Amino acid sequence: MDWGSILSQRMSRMKASEIRELLKLLDQPEIISFAGGIPDPALFPVEDYQKALAGALTGEAAAVSLQYSVSEGYLPLRRWLAAEMGRLGVVCGVENIFITSGSQQALDYLGKLLLSPGDTALVNWPTYMGALGAFNAYEPAYLRLNGNLGAAEVRAEAAASGGRPKFAYLSADFGNPTGETLDRAGREQLLDLAAELDIAVIEDGAYQHLRYEGEAIPPILALEQARVGSIENCRTLYCGSFSKTLAPGLRVGWVCGASAAIQRLVLLKQAGDLHSSTINQIATAQVAETVFAAHVEQLRQVYGRRRSLVLEALAREMPEGVTWTRPEGGMFVWLTLPEAIDGAELLAHALKHQKVAFVPGRAFFADGSNGNTIRLSFSLHEKPAVDEGVRRIGQAIREMMARPA
Ligand SMILES: Cc1ncc(COP(=O)(O)O)c(C=O)c1O
Repeated sequence: MDWGSILSQRMSRMKASEIRELLKLLDQPEIISFAGGIPDPALFPVEDYQKALAGALTGEAAAVSLQYSVSEGYLPLRRWLAAEMGRLGVVCGVENIFITSGSQQALDYLGKLLLSPGDTALVNWPTYMGALGAFNAYEPAYLRLNGNLGAAEVRAEAAASGGRPKFAYLSADFGNPTGETLDRAGREQLLDLAAELDIAVIEDGAYQHLRYEGEAIPPILALEQARVGSIENCRTLYCGSFSKTLAPGLRVGWVCGASAAIQRLVLLKQAGDLHSSTINQIATAQVAETVFAAHVEQLRQVYGRRRSLVLEALAREMPEGVTWTRPEGGMFVWLTLPEAIDGAELLAHALKHQKVAFVPGRAFFADGSNGNTIRLSFSLHEKPAVDEGVRRIGQAIREMMARPA
């Protein structure tokens, strides 16, 4: 069977990552890896989930936990999330909360909901590569959100691509891959642009709770609500996730926004996977109700310390010509290398000669530009590994810089 000959058009946009092969080498024990943007498993609230899952499987509860459930999501979890969004400054009810199987599913459904082939999605250069992967299936054109394009230019470019602008996607807090924060003025400006273009804003809050320094800035959705009154008038859809705060393996995320959009997402969920895992939602509701705030506080202490260790090591070890971001939260630091150094080539060299790994930056750019960038995740390592790993990266960069042109 020649599968290639019968594939849908959208599959032409779904490419395996070229760095995957290289990252397979990460299994070697001597490699210090800053590649995976994953939470530290030592910080999972294991006992809390043990209790919650045991309870969910005991007596009559099991009949609910193991049964099909509604597509909107488990009501007590949606109630807790509506209150949590309130703590973030968004006034909403359960009708504004939709549970997804991780926020990745929300990105897929939002692409499905809003994009026809040739429509334009505005994304940052660089942006979360998983968002590009999710949207690609719906065949959009991309325009650079952080490139100071005005509404007229966006409209003209989108028309030239054969569609219209539909949404702007971004993480305002500690995004993947740069770890940077969009300041309040930037958020307001984005809302102005979105209103002028009459497009949606997809706010990815995956790292929202992981702030280690500085004052919290309200989510874009909260700022918009302050302008327009009710969440029902908002064009921003906030995608949240328990993956970075509780546990990614349970696949529980959510969307918060106007009920007119939520109801349509529920239709996609019914057609997609009916509903997210009932028992995982029930257990997550209990864990969230009992330990969320205290647990997040513990994560902030540990990840905040690890972030500082990486920043200190970078200041010590990086050669001249390398710059990096100074994230106030999240899991990532983003390095810009001298132009002649390609991040993927550096990774190949670093894996072989220095036994250290990271993610090359090119895949985070919708146009595949800016190869001279890399992403380091600081979620997993303490001081000895950070010091040694960053020293090795510095050494690998020096070796690449010393190559004959
Ligand atoms: C910015 C961002 N959004 C969304 C996701 C998807 O997370 P999940 O589907 O586990 O909620 C990730 C995962 O790394 C991410 O970094």
